[in-house]
Amino acid sequence: MAGPREAELGSLLAEARLAYSGAFAGADPELAVSAPGRVNLIGEHTDYNQGFVLPMALQLGTVMVGSLRRDGVISIITTAEGAEEPKRVQFPAPTEGNPLRPSEPHWANYVKGVIQHYRAGPIPGFNAVIASNVPLGGGLSSSASLEVATYTFLQQLCPDDGDLVAKALACQKAEHVFAGMPCGIMDQFISVMGKEGHALLIDCRSLETLLVPLNDPSLVVLITNSNVRHALTGSEYPTRRHQCEEAAKALGKASLREASMADLEAAQALLSEEVFRRARHVIGEIERTSRAGQALQARDYETFGRLMVESHNSLRDDYEVSCPELDELVTAALEVRGVYGSRMTGGGFGGCTVTLLEAGVAEAAVQHIKEKYSGAATFYFTKPSDGAKVQPL
Ligand SMILES: Nc1ncnc2c1ncn2[C@@H]1O[C@H](COP(=O)(O)OP(=O)(O)O)[C@@H](O)[C@H]1O
Ligand SMILES: [Mg+2]
Repeated sequence: MAGPREAELGSLLAEARLAYSGAFAGADPELAVSAPGRVNLIGEHTDYNQGFVLPMALQLGTVMVGSLRRDGVISIITTAEGAEEPKRVQFPAPTEGNPLRPSEPHWANYVKGVIQHYRAGPIPGFNAVIASNVPLGGGLSSSASLEVATYTFLQQLCPDDGDLVAKALACQKAEHVFAGMPCGIMDQFISVMGKEGHALLIDCRSLETLLVPLNDPSLVVLITNSNVRHALTGSEYPTRRHQCEEAAKALGKASLREASMADLEAAQALLSEEVFRRARHVIGEIERTSRAGQALQARDYETFGRLMVESHNSLRDDYEVSCPELDELVTAALEVRGVYGSRMTGGGFGGCTVTLLEAGVAEAAVQHIKEKYSGAATFYFTKPSDGAKVQPL
């Protein structure tokens, strides 16, 4: 079968080493790290509302290889085709009087942001090459895997205190300040704390995490990349964040996490029809995610799958972040017997769907989705993997 692919960390490391010796006069890198992308099983657009999310780390990831330099210069190359030109940037390591600032090319801001917000110092100069097999902008969090890989790399050069929560938060801050993306905490948390054979239920209010086993051999997680990304104005995400804040404020709550569906219904007159629907998605999704965590613990995949479908419908109708391609992929997946559930995953407007299904029907599901989908999809069968790691060279 042509479809499913699995990540090959080894070949990614080989690619990065080759690019390194090409760029840095034949030298070999002295250290290597990796950090995974993620797929969110359920809990979409809940993280910035202090709710629950339930992602798992992927076998797809970003690697960074490199070596210390003695002259205080940082020189970084990405091999990613989708990254803007130039693919190589060079700048002095930041000092207190001379901090890094966001600039062109855009991709380097994810790296610079992490360097600037790193929790120890002073950071020395270094050479590095980045290679990734997470699709850029595909909703599998190439950005967080790049940030967390960078942070993990810096930990080898200049150790911090090793606090994992603080590490994830520093990476999130880098994305806020340097990439201008007011993202929640999910992507960085799972890329730091993922564990093989487990999904991670994250309480985005308390920052507590719970590993939930997801290693049943009769079960498969299929990611389907629609390979579309609708060109939007860029304001969709901040607009929804504002709408959620507005709804929470009207309800007299610190966040939508504090609100029940009954609270929302009682306050309906205070909200525009659109803001009401946005809040209805978030409040319902937080509840669904908490129930999905329990269902997964109990290995109740029927319930889990049903909650995934409810999540998709709510994202489509109330939050309005789906698109025809994602809806098509979900509909096609649900037509296959042995599929428990399917939904869009990630921010929306393109990117990927995630489907939970019986292992025995995996190939049939891919065939069926291929036949039904109007575009050309990419399929990944994936297993929950570990978070960021140092890699032997
Ligand atoms: N390996 C990489 N090399 C260079 N830039 C990268 C890499 N991975 C991610 N990026 C940056 O992150 C951006 C994608 O982040 P984002 O829009 O949040 O999508 P997602 O995180 O869902 O993949 C890319 O456009 C690029 O700027
Ligand atoms: Mg991202």
